[in-house]
Amino acid sequence: MKFYVSTPIYYVNDRPHIGHVYTTTIADIFARYHRLCGDDVFFLTGTDEHAAKVVDSAAQHGLTAQQWADQNAQAFQDTFQKLGIANDDFIRTSQPRHKDKVQQYVGELMKTGDVYLGEYEGWYDAGQEEYLTESKAKEYDYKSPFNGKPLVRKKEKNYFFKLSRYAEPLLKLLADQPDFVQPDIRRNEVANRIREGLNDVPISRTGGGDWGIKVPGDEQHVIYVWIDALINYLSTVDTPDRIKYWPANVHLIAKDILWFHAVIWPAMLLALKRPLPRQVYAHSFWIAEGQKMSKSLGNFVDLEKIDHYVGKYGLDAFRYFLASNGPLGTNDSDFAEAKFVEVYNANLANDLGNLVNRSLSMVQRYRGEVPAATGSQLRPEAEKMIAAYRDCMAQLDLTGALEHLRRYITRANQYVEENAPWKLAKDPTQAGKLNDVLYDLAESVRLISILITPVMPTIAGNIRAQLGGTAGVVPSMEEARWGLLAAGTKLGTIAPLFPKLDQAKK
Ligand code: MSP
Repeated sequence: MKFYVSTPIYYVNDRPHIGHVYTTTIADIFARYHRLCGDDVFFLTGTDEHAAKVVDSAAQHGLTAQQWADQNAQAFQDTFQKLGIANDDFIRTSQPRHKDKVQQYVGELMKTGDVYLGEYEGWYDAGQEEYLTESKAKEYDYKSPFNGKPLVRKKEKNYFFKLSRYAEPLLKLLADQPDFVQPDIRRNEVANRIREGLNDVPISRTGGGDWGIKVPGDEQHVIYVWIDALINYLSTVDTPDRIKYWPANVHLIAKDILWFHAVIWPAMLLALKRPLPRQVYAHSFWIAEGQKMSKSLGNFVDLEKIDHYVGKYGLDAFRYFLASNGPLGTNDSDFAEAKFVEVYNANLANDLGNLVNRSLSMVQRYRGEVPAATGSQLRPEAEKMIAAYRDCMAQLDLTGALEHLRRYITRANQYVEENAPWKLAKDPTQAGKLNDVLYDLAESVRLISILITPVMPTIAGNIRAQLGGTAGVVPSMEEARWGLLAAGTKLGTIAPLFPKLDQAKK
């Protein structure tokens, strides 16, 4: 099976922060999970470069828009690389491969009869690059609902897309395919807004200078940046060797840009008679230490802060925190250091780290190798957990998948206490029972190492090396079956996985 996952393409004039890093990290985790399942994966991220504000910031820095975009797109690429993101491509909207396709699709769109030349008069949110109706503008007191800055009055000639024609088809889509927009609450929000009526939307602008992609056949007009940007999902894979990936399985985004992805993008694809993505998944927001992140408060969890966490606790622990405590559902999540430390200590150092370390140390000490077992107590629970984990991952419920794993780890630690192998080891009549318990634990550790691979690839490799395997060998979900750990396996060097925090602080 193929699996195509995308992230939003990020505005190139901002510095990468936790929001961008979060969506891209969870996309990376789903991509890694599907690779583990043997799927043919395509994972796309990139930068959205033709916003008008790029021209302004470039000028403030004494650079051309392209130079400014180059510099900042590089910052996103460097950041993602540093954070272990294994994307298959990085699309930049200023690349010719994208621009050519955008002109081609917009050209096609203009021939559908769904585009006309008109005049727009209304309000514009420059930060979001979004047009607002008079009533919406009034509702927000003529200020941006996103950054509080005054809205800009606009009067210009635009090409319009007849979005109004698509209200019924879109409502039908949402009703027939409830998975198209997830979570459910977000789908209901979108459906309610569509029922209020759809206005036609500008797809080009004039008078904004040259930065952007020209409307084919009418060079006075530059294609509206959102139309340009949405097309990235298709333009990148519209090549003979990649078109097999379309339609995308999921566009991962946050709730701020749901309208564009759940309404404008599918309507455009309907007009172009192209297959629609299977799902748009809109997660919620990170806030920081209990407060909304904003430029005025200067409290973004920015690259410096991210570096601090990664440096102090390790990249895998950082990824685990994002994955297990992030705003994947409909609630916002708080990125707070106290919470991070709590998760690190409880779930990683105490639960996972301790289980792996004590289990393998006891195998080593009492048997010198993985013993043969005659029966298993943990097997049924392990199998239930693996099935639950897989179900959750298939539904993008990463938090749920990790919760099943965490509970199993807790259970396995409890199993150590219940069976007290150190007592069994002293009683020769209990040798068989000790073998069973040690095998249960070693096999649990092996299975856990497979299931944590998408989230913590380095720790997972490290555990497999301690189990006598080779760290660099990527496992497969096929191996997530009880009993594949061979009796007689010699262990590697056993070492703690997560340094205790008081040590890490030094
Ligand atoms: N360029 C547009 C997207 C075009 S997609 C065809 C854009 N860019 S953005 O740089 O503003 O990025 C928005 C995205 O960044 C959100 O949808 C989300 O993925 C991520 N986040 C930004 N702030 C966030 C939080 N505070 N929390 C979680 N994710 C957030 O919009």
